[in-house]
Amino acid sequence: MDEQDWAQVVAAATRAPSIHNTQPWRFVATPDRLEVYLDTERALPVLDPTRRQQVISCGSLVEFAVVALSAAGRDGDVDLLTDDADPDHLATIEVTGTREPTEEDRRLAAAIAQRHTVRAAFQPRAVPVDLVDRLQAEAGLFDTWLKPITRSEEEVATVFLISRAEEMEQSDPAYVAELERWMRTDAAAVDGVPVEAVPAGDPHARPSNWLIRDFVAGSREQHAFLSSGDPDAPPPAVERPVVVLLGTEGDDRYAWLQSGRALGRVLLQVTVAGLAASPLTQALDWPATRSRMQSRLSLVGHPQMLLRIGYPPEAAGSAVSGRRTVADVLRFVPASS
Ligand SMILES: Cc1cc2nc3c(=O)[nH]c(=O)nc-3n(C[C@H](O)[C@H](O)[C@H](O)COP(=O)(O)O)c2cc1C
Repeated sequence: MDEQDWAQVVAAATRAPSIHNTQPWRFVATPDRLEVYLDTERALPVLDPTRRQQVISCGSLVEFAVVALSAAGRDGDVDLLTDDADPDHLATIEVTGTREPTEEDRRLAAAIAQRHTVRAAFQPRAVPVDLVDRLQAEAGLFDTWLKPITRSEEEVATVFLISRAEEMEQSDPAYVAELERWMRTDAAAVDGVPVEAVPAGDPHARPSNWLIRDFVAGSREQHAFLSSGDPDAPPPAVERPVVVLLGTEGDDRYAWLQSGRALGRVLLQVTVAGLAASPLTQALDWPATRSRMQSRLSLVGHPQMLLRIGYPPEAAGSAVSGRRTVADVLRFVPASS
């Protein structure tokens, strides 16, 4: 692989989702391997002091890289956390040979460019059960369980914990200040969450039980202009997402990376099936609500990611979030002669 080949893989990989679009990663490539590092300068000390959610983000990036590599006709082996001297060296993808890309490789690679976090209310259309079964099998490949929240008492408990966490966050000035630092109004921004990518209205007023993260609570007057407000219009149909919890037996960097890899695969399969997703991780941000989720849902292991999945609205038109350039994140080291 030369620098150009790696640049293409890295451009695809960095379309991966990341908490607040912080893109907490950087790469070193040589002709036969790509090393992935956590970029500790892009931390979220209030929301994510242990860096759990940033490491999950890097896990999904690793799978996006593997998918891009397969579609480019290369096989890759992934090793996690092999560098005892540097815990921020999260993964190494070693190129082991060539392959003829399969139809599946191409579909998944095409999904990388199509996927976006869709926070708008989904269509009131049920998610196919066999898709959820497929996602469960896919997550299992990475030692990650995927549990649909279907029983009503589990749904009530989860919805309660999300709203409790959201309330705690909105009343914490340090959380709000950190969130505001990652909001973007400039369409050309290379990181952060574009204000156009979050619904303008109050999340509590949505036709859904599931409360999405409120990115603009403090400045709603400025952004709440788009509701066309016909008072006689019928109420919108209630969305019917499937909400799934991903979790792992352990709760260390290895487990976080594995659940991130599962997340990456799950999101691409969801996109291939014509659906969309958005994470709802407020209740997992804080030790108190995260551990209550464990006990209220009698979980075996640790919850890592809560994901809402459904059919996107027809006119989804959600803003595409920016990415740093490949030159900003990749250093290529040619083979020494
Ligand atoms: C670990 C993790 C947690 C996230 N939590 C939330 C969340 O609670 N609410 C939300 O709307 N988006 C959440 N996101 C989505 C990111 O905001 C999104 O991936 C990022 O802004 C880039 O946008 P894109 O996914 O459309 O490319 C999360 C993403 C990751 C990887």
